[in-house]
Amino acid sequence: MPRKIVVTSALYYSNGPIHMGHLVESIQTDIWVRFHKLCGNQCLYFCADDTHGTAIMISARKEGITPEQLIDRAHKEHLTDLKRFFIEFDNYYTTHSPENRTFSELFFTRLRDAGAITKRNIDQTWCPNCNMALPDRFIRGTCPKCKAEDQYGDSCEVCGATYQPTDLINPRCSTCGSTPVLKQSEHYFFKLANYEKQLRDIFARGYIQESVSNKLDEWFTAGLKDWDISRDGPYFGFKIPGEEDKYFYVWLDAPIGYMASAKNYCDKNGLDFDAVWNGRDYELYHFIGKDIMYFHALFWPAMLVGTGFKTANKLFVHGFLTVGGQKMSKSRGTFIKAATYAKHLDPEYLRYYYASKLSAGIDDLDLSTEDFINKINSDLVGKFTNLASRAAPMLKSKFNGRLGKLDNEGKKLIEEIAAAEKEIIQNYENLNYAAVIRTATALADLANRYVEQNQPWTTIKTDPEKARTTLTATLNAVRILTIYLKPILPAFAEKIERLLNVGKLTFADVPAILQEHDINNFERLFERVDKEKVDAMIEESKETGEKQAMTPEPTPAITAEPIKPECTIEDFAKIDLRIAQVVKAERVEGADKLLRFQLDVGGIQKNVLAGIAQAYKPETLVGKIVILFANLKPRQMRFGLSEGMILASGTGGKEIFMLTADTGAKPGAKVS
Ligand code: 2FM
Ligand code: ZN
Repeated sequence: MPRKIVVTSALYYSNGPIHMGHLVESIQTDIWVRFHKLCGNQCLYFCADDTHGTAIMISARKEGITPEQLIDRAHKEHLTDLKRFFIEFDNYYTTHSPENRTFSELFFTRLRDAGAITKRNIDQTWCPNCNMALPDRFIRGTCPKCKAEDQYGDSCEVCGATYQPTDLINPRCSTCGSTPVLKQSEHYFFKLANYEKQLRDIFARGYIQESVSNKLDEWFTAGLKDWDISRDGPYFGFKIPGEEDKYFYVWLDAPIGYMASAKNYCDKNGLDFDAVWNGRDYELYHFIGKDIMYFHALFWPAMLVGTGFKTANKLFVHGFLTVGGQKMSKSRGTFIKAATYAKHLDPEYLRYYYASKLSAGIDDLDLSTEDFINKINSDLVGKFTNLASRAAPMLKSKFNGRLGKLDNEGKKLIEEIAAAEKEIIQNYENLNYAAVIRTATALADLANRYVEQNQPWTTIKTDPEKARTTLTATLNAVRILTIYLKPILPAFAEKIERLLNVGKLTFADVPAILQEHDINNFERLFERVDKEKVDAMIEESKETGEKQAMTPEPTPAITAEPIKPECTIEDFAKIDLRIAQVVKAERVEGADKLLRFQLDVGGIQKNVLAGIAQAYKPETLVGKIVILFANLKPRQMRFGLSEGMILASGTGGKEIFMLTADTGAKPGAKVS
């Protein structure tokens, strides 16, 4: 029985462009949806723009347009960008819609009737000049702790302190510079704690990955607090029923936007919304980033339970994107908009690259430009494209494009490739796309070896039928590998379908074999990536200090990393630094940043893994005297046990410098 599945991914804010950080989730979700469709399941992917809130209202004011104009423009831009990356929604809607207003009011009244809404007075920060309530991010002032100037109202980017806006020294409105005042106002609160038991039950059923379950314990231990779901006007959003100048907080109607998008789709396509959204026949999954887990793990399921809707089967939570091991940065040119990327590079490269790094955990995904170029050139071009481009043009020119039959060796190759289907499907299902790519690449290696061994370019002269047999097996290998990669590379797959003169390939086509069949002309598949193009993209993404100051970062997740909490001199004194001599240094297969060291620490041998492979060649380090953090608790890493840390510092990549002491210092000696 085909499965029926509804999928959502987090809604994009209207007040910013789609960037490469967003694309991690969009690509992860799209691959999963395409995979299910290729398995013959009914899979519906709903998303929308997240259009409400103060930030959007202020951005529109600054531009001298209405919020409606701003969100309309953003909607078109977002869709254009997402289409470029082959993100294929079944419906891409907006939270500023009649369906969303109706559902938001329904949620509010049902929750109020269930006794889950309460009202109380709060002191809110108000700008008397702008005549509006100021969210924490719209207040700037001096940090009460470290005295750094021009910090946000909720946290300091210099010392990492978090505080209330009222704690700021010399606070001011970030729009007009006036000093805010406190103003009492009655707000609506959602009583989250009413649903603690139901939430615990939902988690016990496996709503969220194991790897984040300790977060849940933290939240329950801290206690579930009431959540402020209202905002005073002026505000861009939906008015609360029965109120003159109060609105639903943007985070209340945002997740309801998933439902609104589904409802809009069902109405347009003659489907029963209640069955699709709330029926037991349909599975429901939300893809989100780890920064918005609290909303999706607590508020959203509690709201659904309180209103009598079913909750999702599972949340799929992913980590952030880092570039070269660091947060995306406008000054370094690594805050790259989707549109800028697409101007310089093929979007399918990014789909392939992200897939090769994605698994089910919440670890951050790092994009290293060198690794990106390598993977595309050596795997995508060197392995997959190469296979088709070696076989198809020869078959076309020498055999009029007619495939022959497989011999035993060809059959064996194809059987081996087809046998991986189950494993590939399992890995897609479990979001382990990196494993899919690993398997497909190994199979492409196998097929390329088969071509090398059979040398059709030689046998074409001596035994043309043998050459045709080799080309037939090779193109059958291409066909199966294309099915395996189709969720990741939809445009590539279309080209191969045209080339092989077959219909739309699905997983059901894996066992079929193409023999005595005419193929079409070969069209170019992927080109090698030029480093110059990557550099040009980064150059274009660099913003000057002045430009940056005018453009607020779209989400807190990509602002500069705050300095960690204080570490005392006593903490520091616990670190035992020793002189060590490098006995052996080698690359680590499968980890392009790591080097494996064997160190002599005065007769004691230690194995250490260090992330400095892009800065140092291992052979240049043997015999060097380095400084070792010798009492660091040994850590089991994927590539082995690491029993210390070699001291090195820098901004990452090639910019890492090891502390050395090649001055006759004796291994084992203490360093002070
Ligand atoms: O964090 C964000 O980018 C939000 N716009 C996500 C909203 S997801 C859902 F709840 F609507
Ligand atoms: Zn103001």
